[in-house]
Amino acid sequence: MSQRVTRRQFLNYSLMGVGSFMAAGMILPMGRFALDPVFKADAKGDMIATGVKESELGKDPIKVDFKFEQEDAWYTSEVTEFAWVYKDGKDIVALSPVCKHLGCTVQWNGSDSNPNQFYCPCHSGRYEKNGKNIPGTPPLAPLDQYDVAVKGGIVQIGNKHENKLAK
Ligand code: FES
Repeated sequence: MSQRVTRRQFLNYSLMGVGSFMAAGMILPMGRFALDPVFKADAKGDMIATGVKESELGKDPIKVDFKFEQEDAWYTSEVTEFAWVYKDGKDIVALSPVCKHLGCTVQWNGSDSNPNQFYCPCHSGRYEKNGKNIPGTPPLAPLDQYDVAVKGGIVQIGNKHENKLAK
């Protein structure tokens, strides 16, 4: 028995082939666009040297600036951010200043009526020194924490991650 392909079958196969090719052409770029951030190396993956010496740190948080290169599509720019950094015994703690409510910048001792706390001026959010959000104020999560190290006496800031101090 011969295995002849009918004209109708040939047309079906051809249309399926062309259709699949066109669908792949549309779907693959969308998939790549969606997954790109997952595979992209973190611009801030390495420890970044700051201009602050370990000896300048005390038990009250101070602003420590750090710079890194950020790529937005074809445009590379130098970005300056800062962390609140303090000493806790022998440990050094670095906290993100970005409020976990809606992203405003928190200030250490920013409210006269709530000393020794981080204060967010946008909606009166408050955090303890270790970044723990104070119940009854808008933020529902602790301030993020940065990896921190000292190299040659200089404070270095690393990746940002969930706060491990606030319980
Ligand atoms: S953004 Fe900080 S309390 Fe709302």
